[in-house]
Amino acid sequence: MDKRWYKEQVVYQIYPQSFCDSNQDGIGDLKGIQSKLDYIQNLGAQIIWLSPIYLSPLDDNGYDIADYYQIHPRYGTMADFDDLVREIHGRGMKLVMDLVVNHTSDEHHWFQEAIKGKDNSYHDYYLWLDKPNNWMSLFGGKACEYVASCDQYYLHLFSKKQPDLNWENPKVREEIKKMLHFWLNKGVDGFRCDVINLLSKTPGLPNGKASPILSGREHYMNGPHIHRYLEELKMEVWNQYDCFTVGECVFLTPEQALTYIEDEKELNMVFQFQHMDADCYFVKWFLRKFRPIRLKKALSRWQEKINGRGWNSLYFENHDQPRSISRFGNENYRFHSATFLATYLFCQQGTPFIYQGQEIGMSNAAFPDLEQYQDVETKRIYQIGKKIFGHKNMMKRIQLKSRDNARTPMQWSDKEHAGFTTGTPWIEVNPNYKEVNVEKNEEDQDSILHYYRKLLELRKNHEALIYGSFQEKFAKDHHLVCYERNMDHESFMILGNFSEKCLDMEKKIDLTPFDLVLSNYKTSTTLLKPYEIRIYIKR
Ligand code: GLC
Ligand code: CA
Repeated sequence: MDKRWYKEQVVYQIYPQSFCDSNQDGIGDLKGIQSKLDYIQNLGAQIIWLSPIYLSPLDDNGYDIADYYQIHPRYGTMADFDDLVREIHGRGMKLVMDLVVNHTSDEHHWFQEAIKGKDNSYHDYYLWLDKPNNWMSLFGGKACEYVASCDQYYLHLFSKKQPDLNWENPKVREEIKKMLHFWLNKGVDGFRCDVINLLSKTPGLPNGKASPILSGREHYMNGPHIHRYLEELKMEVWNQYDCFTVGECVFLTPEQALTYIEDEKELNMVFQFQHMDADCYFVKWFLRKFRPIRLKKALSRWQEKINGRGWNSLYFENHDQPRSISRFGNENYRFHSATFLATYLFCQQGTPFIYQGQEIGMSNAAFPDLEQYQDVETKRIYQIGKKIFGHKNMMKRIQLKSRDNARTPMQWSDKEHAGFTTGTPWIEVNPNYKEVNVEKNEEDQDSILHYYRKLLELRKNHEALIYGSFQEKFAKDHHLVCYERNMDHESFMILGNFSEKCLDMEKKIDLTPFDLVLSNYKTSTTLLKPYEIRIYIKR
């Protein structure tokens, strides 16, 4: 197994508008991020991933880019950005940017030119249809939109303000490569590649099989030329730098993942979604009761299939997912379920990704009123869903699943607006901020934050927890989690109780050859308490 910095280090994801506001306009910004670098470093994360900060009309909070070369003024200036990079590198840390190239904003000048007519030289930068096809948008509804000036429809897999780029056009690929060089030359250390497995579409954009789950998807998921495009980026850009890439891949199996990541041929790792289906049927709005065994099975499958051939990313949270303790844990066991989930996930083989606030046990805001939500996807799904399920039922789904659950401001203290801003925050703060905040976590030696620090420190100091092989025990047990990480002469065992009932393991495991190194309870008996988890080392 090749040793690499991005396998050994831990990533901390920042959602810029919700992290820290330095000028009190209610929106997080670059100077705010800079003021918190010590905090991130002390946590034990070395790589920072920034969600998009580029110029954008913010229809999808920056995942709709109007200019790839400009910083949105609400976050600061290019000089602020350069400062931030210098500060990050000065600490020996790394910076990863979001790369959003499946689509641009409709306000990007390429698109503004493209809609002037079929003869415009930018027209071919996007994907056009003379008649609409049956593809569905990932945000709900149809995926094409009429433009009268061209008498054609353009494809948008996301909102209609996010037209899809035509990657078959070599000029588009040249533009993207040029832009990647620009950021890499500024010192950026890598990219989180947004919906990267959707870039290539079947030529002609033909109708897909009708399906309740995204009609048309067989024509754009891992499409016909995807590997050609990524190889080109790798050969002509990424290989020329010490550059890290993680590709977000929708509906991916481990077998498909290997076509991208085996021996790091195109990407270093992917974000997959199979463990995110533990509480839904493929699409997050089709709810089912969460069962730990589904999560266990999905994660172990990825461990076993990728082990030795590629590298996993390890995540429970990001700006698109509800908070993990509300979803897979239990808010009534905030400390124990947060530390259980962290230990269970981050001791597996792969690179840990922490999303801002996860390290202090932030939970879903679950706002009761639709007006409190800002997210374009949430609003769109509500409009479509209320006709089928009615208002009450849709609000229940939104409270559990809306992306805004993760996007509320970072809770720094018990001051007004959680110390995020003294202005009016762009989205309301979770009302639990008086209890759940960084300051309180810092003061309490037994807090989630302190536990995270110990956990990351332990991983950093033991290669077996990074590169060691993964062997699961009791794979079929619904609540007992148990796996080993083995390497050379070092061997760890992770043992935990994925439930709120006590679990007796006296007859199951012989603990005599093991020493306890970390646990989220003070005493350890043969009875595992609710969400108890322990890390053992073999003597
Ligand atoms: C990715 C992003 C998400 C965004 C979508 C469209 O899934 O993580 O936030 O809405 O792509 O760019
Ligand atoms: Ca601000």
